[in-house]
Amino acid sequence: MRAQASLIYPLIGKGKTPMTQEQALNILKLGKNVFLTGAPGAGKTYLLAQYIDFLRLNDVNPAITAYTGIAASHLNGKTLHSWAGLRPGPLRAFAQERDRVRNNQFLTAKITRAKVLIIDEISMLSPELFEQVDFICKTARNSMEPFGGLQLICSGDFFQIPPVNQENGRFVLDSGIWEEAKMKICYLHEQHRQGDHKLLGILEEIRRGDVGADAIALLKSRVGAKIDAPIGVARLYTHNEDVDEINERELRKLTGPEIIYEVHSTGDAKVIEKLKKDYRIKNISLKKGARVMFTRNNEGMGYVNGTLGEIVDFDGDGDPVVMTFDQQRIAVAREQWDLEDNGETKASVWQVPLRLAWAITVHKSQGMTLDAAEIELSRAFEEGMGYVALSRVKRLENLSLIGWNDVALKVNDRIKRIDDEFLEQSIETENYLHGLGAERVDRLQREFVAAMKEEGEAPKVQAGAFHYEPDEVPVIDFEGYGSINAEDIPF
Ligand SMILES: Nc1ncnc2c1ncn2[C@@H]1O[C@H](COP(=O)(O)OP(=O)(O)OP(=O)(O)O)[C@@H](O)[C@H]1O
Ligand SMILES: [Mg+2]
Repeated sequence: MRAQASLIYPLIGKGKTPMTQEQALNILKLGKNVFLTGAPGAGKTYLLAQYIDFLRLNDVNPAITAYTGIAASHLNGKTLHSWAGLRPGPLRAFAQERDRVRNNQFLTAKITRAKVLIIDEISMLSPELFEQVDFICKTARNSMEPFGGLQLICSGDFFQIPPVNQENGRFVLDSGIWEEAKMKICYLHEQHRQGDHKLLGILEEIRRGDVGADAIALLKSRVGAKIDAPIGVARLYTHNEDVDEINERELRKLTGPEIIYEVHSTGDAKVIEKLKKDYRIKNISLKKGARVMFTRNNEGMGYVNGTLGEIVDFDGDGDPVVMTFDQQRIAVAREQWDLEDNGETKASVWQVPLRLAWAITVHKSQGMTLDAAEIELSRAFEEGMGYVALSRVKRLENLSLIGWNDVALKVNDRIKRIDDEFLEQSIETENYLHGLGAERVDRLQREFVAAMKEEGEAPKVQAGAFHYEPDEVPVIDFEGYGSINAEDIPF
C-alpha cells in the first residue's frame, strides 16, 4: 500500500517544485554520479531499491553497500567494509592497499564487474574510508576516474549520525574525492514514514536547530508513556553497554533451556584475541523466543548482516533455527572468520553469526522504520542522535521516551548551512533534467544501459592508457600513518 506522502519543505522558492522520487530516479538512470539526500522517511532507500530493480532488469550489476550491516540489509547489500575487503580497525597505507588489491583476483574481478556503487547512510562514513574505497576501486579498475569510473550513488542525510570516532568534525563531503565525483544533488521532499503531523513538526524543528516549547512539551508527554503495540517494541539506546544489559535481562525472562555457543578457534593465541576483538565475537547464550540479529552475510543461506528474527528451535545438530521477520526459517551453522597475513592464515575462529537484538544502538537503527520504540537519549553523545532515533517511528503515540539530554536534540550547525546549498543544487539538477526534455532523457538512459552492458568484464581504462602531470598527484594525509603520496598509485 502506498504511504500518504506529504511535502515537508513547501517553501523552497516561488515557482520551484520540490524534487520527487520519480525525477531523482530519472537522474540515476542517466548514469550520473548522484548524492541522494532528504529528511528521514523521504524515501531515499526506497528509491535506491527501485533503481537496483531497474539495473537488474537490464542486466547491470550494482554493488550495494551501506556503512552499517542493518542499513545494508534493507537493500540486501553488504557493509562497505565487506564489499571492499576492508578489515575493521585502522585503514592501511595506500602502498599496502595497492598490493592487497592487485594480489586479490577475486576482489579485483568483483569490483571490475560492478558498474554502479551504491553507498547508503553516507553520513556515517569517514572521509578517510571514502578515500580508501576510491583508491581500491581505482586500483582494481585501473582507472584514475573517481571510484575507477563506477557510477557512484551516495545516499543519506548529514543531519543524521556523523562519522564514528571522528574528533575533527569532518564529513565525507570534506574529502577531495567528493568534489571530484561531481555528483548531481537530488534532494527528496516527500515524506513516507511519518503520517503524524505532531511528530513531523518536532522533527522539522530539530532539523532547523530550533526546538520550541510546544515540541518540548509534546516530547515530555511521551516520557514513560505506555505503548499499545501488538508486536514487540524496539528499544533504542545510545550505548552498547545498555543494549547488552537489556538483551541479557530479556534472555533471562525466557523460561526454556539455554544453549551456550562457545567460540571455537585455532592458531596463534594473540591473533585469535585480535580477531575476536575486531569482529566482536563472543560466547553467546540463546533460548527459544530470543530476538536475534545476524552479523554476517550469507546470501546462499538467505541472511545478511543486520537481518532480524527470532529463535524458534534448535535442530538435531544443536544449531539454532531462526525465523526471520520476513518469514524465512534458517538453521544457523557456525561461520568462520580468518586473519590472514601475506596469504597465510594466522588464526581462525568459528561462531554462530548471531547477536541478541531486543535492544539495539541508535547508530544501528539509522535507516530503519519501526512500528513502535522505547528510546533512551539521556546520554546522547553525538549531534543527530535524537533526530535519528525519534524519526524511526511513524507516530508520536508509538514512542515512549526514557529521557534526553541537550546533545540529543541538536544537529550540526555547519550542516545547516551546507544543507541550504544542497537545496539550491537540487533545484539546478531539476532544471538540468527539465532542460534535457523527455525524448533526450529517454535516449540517454538507453545509451547508458547499453554502454554498461557492452563494457562487460573488461576494465574501462587499460593500464598506461592515460597519464597525469606531477602537479595533479594528490597527497592524501591519513592520521596514524602519515602522508602517502599518490605516486604509490599504480598508473
Ligand atoms: N514511494 C513510496 N511508496 C510507498 N512506500 C514508500 C515510498 N517511499 C518510501 N516508502 C516507505 O516509507 C518508509 C521510509 O522510506 P525510506 O526508508 O526509504 O526513507 P529514507 O529516506 O531512506 O529514510 P532514512 O533517512 O531514515 O534512511 C519505508 O517504510 C518505505 O518503504
Ligand atoms: Mg534510508
